Amino acid sequence: MEREITLTDGAVTLRAWRPDDAPAVLAACQDPLIARFIPIPQPYTEADAQTFVEIRRRDWETEDERSFAIVDATTGELLGSIARHGPFGHRATFGYWLVSQARGRGVATRALRLVTDWTIATTEVIRLDLFTEVENDASGRVATRVGFVREGVRRAWDLDREGRPIDVIFYVLVRDLAAGDEVRSALHGANR
Ligand SMILES: CC(C)(COP(=O)(O)OP(=O)(O)OC[C@H]1O[C@@H](n2cnc3c(N)ncnc32)[C@H](O)[C@@H]1OP(=O)(O)O)[C@@H](O)C(=O)NCCC(=O)NCCS
Repeated sequence: MEREITLTDGAVTLRAWRPDDAPAVLAACQDPLIARFIPIPQPYTEADAQTFVEIRRRDWETEDERSFAIVDATTGELLGSIARHGPFGHRATFGYWLVSQARGRGVATRALRLVTDWTIATTEVIRLDLFTEVENDASGRVATRVGFVREGVRRAWDLDREGRPIDVIFYVLVRDLAAGDEVRSALHGANR
């Protein structure tokens, strides 16, 4: 098992999930915006929150999946979730959500920047991407603030809870190989 990594930029800290995060996850996932854009169970129960924390923690036992709780670097309060799926070969995909009270102040942007820079610095990944529902402008703005570029729409890429197809927008950041593999910016205070 890879030693769990903590990443921080001084304002937000990304750390592995802990069993005692489950009550905060349960509260966060009552939010209709998360239910709208993330395929979480409905209704979302205490057992769902415990399962989420356990599964996300086990990501660290795999070769590739990496999941983090986003917490306030000062208070430790839970602010959200961010995960890296992969690397699958030269590709990795990211996903995130914030507790409703943590929105509108750059937390997701900071978290995505941290995992993006860490992934570029510590893996051979060339293509980093994420996808959002077409209506999810806030998530697209997070991606573009971090330097991801809107690639285009993929038709029927996902299915909703009723099995209906959903069009999504992909955002992509390609490693700058011409720059000799140099990362875009240094690791932000990663505990190595
Ligand atoms: C997607 C989601 C995480 C975006 O949250 P967010 O709060 O808009 O994103 P950030 O935390 O990066 O904050 C950015 C906002 O804060 C503002 N802001 C204030 N201070 C800021 C700072 N220092 N740095 C960056 N942005 C700042 C920005 O202007 C921006 O608002 P705008 O997009 O209206 O201009 C959130 O809407 C969410 O949890 N949605 C439900 C789950 C979801 O959709 N997940 C993504 C699935 S693809």
